[in-house]
Amino acid sequence: MDGSTRISPYLSGNFAPVADEVDHRNLEVIGEIPAGLAGAFYRNGPNPQFDPGEEHHWFGGDGMIHGFYVEDGQVHYRNRYVRTPKWRAENAAGKRLFGLFGNPMTTDPSVLGTDSGLANTNIVWHAGKLLALEEGHKPFELDPITLDSRGYVDAYAGAVTAHPKLDPETGEMVWFGYSTGQMPLNAQMSYGVTDATGKVLRREDFEAPYCSMVHDFLVTRRHALFPILPLSGSLQRAMTGGPPFAWEPDKGAFVGVMMRDASADTIRWFEIDACYVFHPMNAWEEGDKIFADVMEYATAPLFPNLDGSMARNEGARLTRWTFDLAANGNTVKRERLDERTGEFPRFDERRAGLAYRHGWYAATTPDRGGDVNFSSIAQVDLESGRQTRYALPAGDATGEPVFVPRTAGADEGDGWLVSVVWRGEENRSDLLVFEAQDIAAGPVGVAKLPCRVPFGFHGNWRSAE
Ligand SMILES: [Fe+2]
Repeated sequence: MDGSTRISPYLSGNFAPVADEVDHRNLEVIGEIPAGLAGAFYRNGPNPQFDPGEEHHWFGGDGMIHGFYVEDGQVHYRNRYVRTPKWRAENAAGKRLFGLFGNPMTTDPSVLGTDSGLANTNIVWHAGKLLALEEGHKPFELDPITLDSRGYVDAYAGAVTAHPKLDPETGEMVWFGYSTGQMPLNAQMSYGVTDATGKVLRREDFEAPYCSMVHDFLVTRRHALFPILPLSGSLQRAMTGGPPFAWEPDKGAFVGVMMRDASADTIRWFEIDACYVFHPMNAWEEGDKIFADVMEYATAPLFPNLDGSMARNEGARLTRWTFDLAANGNTVKRERLDERTGEFPRFDERRAGLAYRHGWYAATTPDRGGDVNFSSIAQVDLESGRQTRYALPAGDATGEPVFVPRTAGADEGDGWLVSVVWRGEENRSDLLVFEAQDIAAGPVGVAKLPCRVPFGFHGNWRSAE
């Protein structure tokens, strides 16, 4: 399907889905792919199998995994759909059957009650399993080499975030779910832990102050933090023709803080000025204080106001939230760390939940504009304050940059940064490899794809070690 003539911005340009599942071995390499870089880079993103119709949203496409397999300076590529129950039903019918996010009003009666999961948001390696994640459904397992679909992991017994945290000290995967109650768009949330062997140890429900889109959360060594920010969800509003999710700052904004080993009824709700965050960088604690670095928007992007209008959005900036557990009040201190705008913050995840120094994200470039067409990769050193960037050639756009340590025991930030980049002029994609501490020098190696990787969401590296 070529979306270039479509009206929806999320079906045209590099948002347009690719039609084919392909294998390309030994990609042409410009420069040098470091010999020490050995493993697989997986990237997930939406790729609608069939014309999604009028109600399409970028987040609503079927998940497709793009795998880059790196060994001995060579790169092989493979992409496969995640064959969810929705994908299989629509593939058999030869047409779209499901409404956006399973909307029953626009779903074909033949598949009402069939799981509508998309598995399109993130892809993580944990406890020997490659898991495609999407926040409304259970993790979906794939073969790490062939990318063949294995199916949902039923042990999770309900929705799991696309942004679990992997604890580098315990090997646990810590996660949550939102809107996990019976009816769609409810305020129930769930907190859960999977141990290092893949056994789901805990799944506990609690009530949020209201139903909101909780895309991500924060985990420190001892605490979990749940941001309830006013991108509110309302079934009643959706049933009366309004937006299911809307920017509603009057709802107030809260961050729930709980001890990881305590019960969810101990959550303490801090209050924060209305803002929105899709993605935190990292969080950690020191004494009675918890610090959280997040990409903070003044208003929620990509979603409407209550009346359906779209607010102008000026982008997200890296901002530090400080919570004082010893204070009497429940206010959050906020401090801007970086004036540049961007998204998809990543760091050396061996420091997940711990004090850290180095971060990277996809950024806009001054004087170029851009929304999710991020044309720079930004680096921030939170200890020295040094900020650098690599601006792509005009017309190109980067996805989320992912850090890969040089070796398992390398110092924090010592390694490479990998990112999938769209070459606008050629309508094609490349895998870029940077020295993580010197991105401004440009990529040390570029693996050239003959095809295109549509804009998508998250990726992760799985070391060959
Ligand atoms: Fe995300």
